[in-house]
Amino acid sequence: MNISSPMNKRDGEHMSAWQNFEVLATATNENNVEDTCDTLIVGAGITGLTTGLLLQQRGQRCIIVDAQNPGYGTTGGTSAHLNTFLDSSYPEIDSDFGEEASKQMAKASAAMIALIKKNIDDFGIDADFEYKKGYLFAQNDEESKTLSDILSSSKKAGVIVSEADTNDLPIDFQSSLCFEQQAQFHPLKYLKGIADEFIRLGGKIFTETSIEENTFENGIHHSKSANRSFVSKNLVYATHISPGVNILSLRNAPYRSYILAVKLKGENYPEHLSYDLKEPYHYFRSHVIDGQKLLLIGGADHKTGHEDPEKAFEELESYVRTYFDIEEIAYKWSSQYYVPVDGLPYIGQLPGGEPATYVATGFNGNGMILGSLSATIIADLITEQKNEYSELLSPARLKPVAGFSEFVKENADVAYRFVADRFGSELKNGIAELAAGDGKILKVDDKKLAVYKDDTGKITGLNPVCTHAGCIVHFNREEKSWDCPCHGARYDIEGNVVTGPARKNLEKISLEDPE
Ligand code: FES
Repeated sequence: MNISSPMNKRDGEHMSAWQNFEVLATATNENNVEDTCDTLIVGAGITGLTTGLLLQQRGQRCIIVDAQNPGYGTTGGTSAHLNTFLDSSYPEIDSDFGEEASKQMAKASAAMIALIKKNIDDFGIDADFEYKKGYLFAQNDEESKTLSDILSSSKKAGVIVSEADTNDLPIDFQSSLCFEQQAQFHPLKYLKGIADEFIRLGGKIFTETSIEENTFENGIHHSKSANRSFVSKNLVYATHISPGVNILSLRNAPYRSYILAVKLKGENYPEHLSYDLKEPYHYFRSHVIDGQKLLLIGGADHKTGHEDPEKAFEELESYVRTYFDIEEIAYKWSSQYYVPVDGLPYIGQLPGGEPATYVATGFNGNGMILGSLSATIIADLITEQKNEYSELLSPARLKPVAGFSEFVKENADVAYRFVADRFGSELKNGIAELAAGDGKILKVDDKKLAVYKDDTGKITGLNPVCTHAGCIVHFNREEKSWDCPCHGARYDIEGNVVTGPARKNLEKISLEDPE
């Protein structure tokens, strides 16, 4: 296991395979009284940096701020597949939005692979970009039927796909499809390339700058962090769910996905990209990282804060060991993504928000493609250019009826948590029973308390009530974080926010005298 100290921080204890690559050696971190720009972008992942680059290329003056560093969130934890098929399959899009929508999403996905490649070529970015075939395979009759529907819908949508006689894996299959012109890359090398170009064009990036307050007066946004303030005409939240309690929290469910990067005995690495049709599905690809060839396998996804992350890693490891001869697990990590209630992302003006406030979320497992697409849509909206996808993906769209049952299910889950967490049975385990490196919710004097014991035995106590909308956080033993099961906010063991939509840290509780 690689345990060296990473050059780029991310939102979890485990180190991702990309993290040993520094995106930004020096950021524009001088303190200021007030900085004025056309567009302030919050979040320096692929969505924020691509938006900034596109706007800067069009003559805007942009500032990007990140509470931590570029690539701290999901871009630093992605598996970096670039596909023309999406987690919401074309048969699903056909049935929920119509065949025209499938054509649009197919065209947009191919255009985003082309955009990423163009940026790589134009700016000379060494991002390990490679075109690959993508194999989607079925292992039983039911999955084969699904695959056959995917083949016909994908073809109608304009995707280049055909039946295949391989899945590029040592795993039995019944039927398989081959999608042409898929791709893979190193997400942080790409991020560095576009960040460098953004800065070369005059853009500024402020790291460790968390926006704590926004006001909107006379058509101008005023945004404040602890020691800086910004004035802008436009405000873009490239942070998945925007902060505060808003409609997007109800329309997106947070999920964790798990990835292992393993060194194989021998050279039996897949050459291309492969995906099964399980629920949740497994995905495979290979990548030479820091001179070492690795197989990346992901899956075991579940809703954030709802299942045991340790078990998810165990399942994934047992699965990969069934089919591959493993020499070493070089990296293991998890990352967060958001599943939109009706299957398509929400990109554009924040519904119910101040004017000229833009959001981009609900990317499912297609963050590199849909983050790039978000950037092109938001840049077009800001510069008042026509965008062929903005209406389909508008956050203000009326949900198709087909999405309704899932919407109710997600909300019912949230409502259950509110009740169960506030009035559930008492937790009896005491601090003394807590193992080093573990955290738990305890009941002390009729109050719930989040406690964490570090390797030296030091206990940190926190109020476990999520500062977003009041759910009780759960401890994530793998990534050493407190994760909220309602809308996916995450906090480190000191209670600091690592993932929104919460903006405020968990309250610290003194435990000097736990008696
Ligand atoms: Fe909404 Fe915690 S993220 S209540």
